[in-house]
Amino acid sequence: MDLIPAPNRVDEWEHHEWTFELKPTTRIGADQGAQGVARWLRSELAAATGFTFDACSVEQASRSADTVTLTFDEQLRAERGREAYRITIDVYGARLTAGGRPGLFYAAQTLRQLLGPRAFRKAPLPGEPWKIQSITIEDSPRFGWRGVLLDVSRHFLPKSDVLRFIDLMAAHKLNVLHLHLTDDQGWRIEIERYPRLTEVGSWRGRSMVGYRAGGRRDDRPHGGYYTKDDLREIVAYAQRRHITVVPEIDLPGHSQAAIAAYPELGNTDVVDTAALTVWTDWGINPNVLNVSESTLRFFEGVLEEVLEVFPSEFVHLGGDECPKEQWKASPAAQARIKELGLADEEELQSWFIRHFDRWLAERGRRLIGWDEILEGGLAPGAAVSSWRGYAGGVAAARAGHDVVMCPEQYVYLDYRQAPGEDEPIPVAYVRTLEDVYRFEPVPAELDAEAAAHVLGAQANLWTEFMDDARDVDYRAFPRLAAFAEVAWSALPTDPAARDFADFERRMLGHYARLDALGVEYRRPEGPRPWQRRPGVAGRPLEGRPPTA
Ligand code: ACM
Repeated sequence: MDLIPAPNRVDEWEHHEWTFELKPTTRIGADQGAQGVARWLRSELAAATGFTFDACSVEQASRSADTVTLTFDEQLRAERGREAYRITIDVYGARLTAGGRPGLFYAAQTLRQLLGPRAFRKAPLPGEPWKIQSITIEDSPRFGWRGVLLDVSRHFLPKSDVLRFIDLMAAHKLNVLHLHLTDDQGWRIEIERYPRLTEVGSWRGRSMVGYRAGGRRDDRPHGGYYTKDDLREIVAYAQRRHITVVPEIDLPGHSQAAIAAYPELGNTDVVDTAALTVWTDWGINPNVLNVSESTLRFFEGVLEEVLEVFPSEFVHLGGDECPKEQWKASPAAQARIKELGLADEEELQSWFIRHFDRWLAERGRRLIGWDEILEGGLAPGAAVSSWRGYAGGVAAARAGHDVVMCPEQYVYLDYRQAPGEDEPIPVAYVRTLEDVYRFEPVPAELDAEAAAHVLGAQANLWTEFMDDARDVDYRAFPRLAAFAEVAWSALPTDPAARDFADFERRMLGHYARLDALGVEYRRPEGPRPWQRRPGVAGRPLEGRPPTA
């Protein structure tokens, strides 16, 4: 068995001769409410096999062994939740049953893995019959938030690549796509009432190639944005795959693209914001938003349109890496601090975030932000993405806030995968496949009550050094497969007790699936020649990452 992520329980009946086989005559029977999953399964299997998989009723399916049935199980739902599923494959056919629609979808994904790598292709190839040994599988996820951040600001990812990435996430039972839509280097979401955000903010004249010390730049404009209809399509496509898209509008730092479009958003009493362009460097940027009432109104307007497009409970408002120099120098910001009775600039940022925490709560949504939002006091309803290590997440969870664990020391997938000269644009610490596999989202120091606030885990793909989907593939895979197993499977919570050798063995089968999907992953032996970037400087750091 080479399933990834590993299911909770697998029983193979090797003494049985029975095998199930998909044939041109095989039909799919689905419960009321399971039609969406049935449609997805039919379209994937039809593409790979060339068969039609006609629909039949569950009743008909129960009388024929030449069927795949998709049904709901109330008891499973009560005991294990909507994401839990069971697969039974034997002489009576392939039966998939689940607590709810997400569970059925995951059962369908597992069934596709059982059919072998060819099942991941989009057209039939000549080959063996589509047989599966008799088996029963019982499965449900460890965490409800199994996320990936895709930074589409630093490098824009065309819509078709985002849709493909959603399919890759779904194949790994990941269920939250955190879309980092705005940053200093690009604004990627159409906002109808502020057209300059995309007219001006969605492209830059040139880019830094590799890191600063290398001194390389290109002279090629870079840009792109999603229309609101593009984003509605992405959201709906993800929804059909039981993936929630969480949008991020990064405030009040990482905002130079917005300020370039609307200079009045910046600290005009400190810098000539009218002279700013969309940023062409990487790094932390001093040009942050001002804290005027009109800037609050501006971003309320932005968020009204964001909420129209994204139905997610959580809306990410960033809050990371907001240098305070301009607020310190700005008479307007200092007057604001005095007027509000705040202690300092940290509290000013906290006040800013609290404003939007309340604003979102009034609209039935919840704010999530990077762990810097703890500084100066956490907004009452806010959840935290803990990225600078575990400490922010631990503090937030102990204070009763929900937390998503994404510590850079483990799950920043822009960090290099191996030591040596061959890794393309090497960034930060070496984070190998094994390092990711041994990432434990819940620190042992949390008691049960605080641990219950850990919603789950997230891997982050920052794209300063990934120009396109091929680079994203290389950085994301195979590590995202290890991450998926951490987020889904019932692995030992002691990282040292995890059986990485078994995972590597299963990966041999999984690489064949990724090949069939056309994923340009990093092979265990290293990058292929065209996956290297000779001469482009990164910013490698030596040794083990400090565990914050
Ligand atoms: C971050 O990596 N600045 C959240």
